[in-house]
Amino acid sequence: VEVAAAGAHHLMLTGPPGIGKTMLAQRLPGLLPDLTDDEALEVTAIHSVVGLLTGDTPLITRPPFVAPHHTASVSALVGGGSGMARPGAISRSHRGVLFLDECAEIGVSVLEALRTPLEEGRIRLARRDGVACYPA
Ligand SMILES: Nc1ncnc2c1ncn2[C@@H]1O[C@H](COP(=O)(O)OP(=O)(O)O)[C@@H](O)[C@H]1O
Ligand SMILES: [Mg+2]
Repeated sequence: VEVAAAGAHHLMLTGPPGIGKTMLAQRLPGLLPDLTDDEALEVTAIHSVVGLLTGDTPLITRPPFVAPHHTASVSALVGGGSGMARPGAISRSHRGVLFLDECAEIGVSVLEALRTPLEEGRIRLARRDGVACYPA
């Protein structure tokens, strides 16, 4: 987990129930350093588009931690909605941690939707009102 935090690597934890996989994964954000100024602006911009910025935290300086439930839909994960597409979990967790607990329970189409954004580091979503491109 330390190596993954230091190198911003992906991490997959497997093993029998109760050995601490979930507990370890939830500790990952605590190991990550603060966002740089540029990263903070980038992450804050995404959260602003989603409407998640509050007066208490006008600038997000800590890496986000997003843990969608394994029943989450494709659009909840990668982004979507009518009109102009809004960022999904993969963009809200940009520069932070996207934690997919019990990932064996996640549907194939949802997991497959993660593949290209993981490779490209961004997601393009075409909807009625135009094409949105978000970091992912
Ligand atoms: N090495 C450990 N030290 C202390 N508590 C642990 C350890 N491993 C697991 N636990 C505790 O055991 C419980 C189950 O762990 P959890 O992370 O849910 O396991 P898993 O996700 O692998 O099924 C949790 O309450 C967790 O805090
Ligand atoms: Mg678990």
